[in-house]
Amino acid sequence: MEKYHLRDILPIIGEYEKGPGSLIPLLHEVQKKIGYLPKEVQEFIAEELGVPYSQVYSVVTFYSFFTMEPRGQHTISVCTGTACHVKGAEDLTKSLKDKLDVEEGGTSDDRKFTFNTKRCVGACSKAPIVMVDDDVYGKVKP
Ligand code: FES
Repeated sequence: MEKYHLRDILPIIGEYEKGPGSLIPLLHEVQKKIGYLPKEVQEFIAEELGVPYSQVYSVVTFYSFFTMEPRGQHTISVCTGTACHVKGAEDLTKSLKDKLDVEEGGTSDDRKFTFNTKRCVGACSKAPIVMVDDDVYGKVKP
């Protein structure tokens, strides 16, 4: 992922009305565009929308789908729910951490993958489950 430029964000901001009502949809759009919401970007959005930076920061930190850290091109998640745990989620987790050289929540150096764990994703009969973005893979072996 290349570094963003604030000028890339300006056209997105231009599509929204000024004021706090635009904050959440705008943050979504910007995160979709550049992958995350660093402080500099939050300050820029606050200034452009005419809302306090503290308000932008509160929203970004309140909702778990916003992130201030860069994420990889793809997110790999291991389900650690009970069924998956019993079927070897721990080995999968260890193997992926080693392979990607990351801790949970971390992103590989090449910015291709972010790794994390999830609670039961509702596919227990195919445990253990690994998700790559929105795709679900069952009976995965390390
Ligand atoms: S415990 Fe993993 S899908 Fe249910």
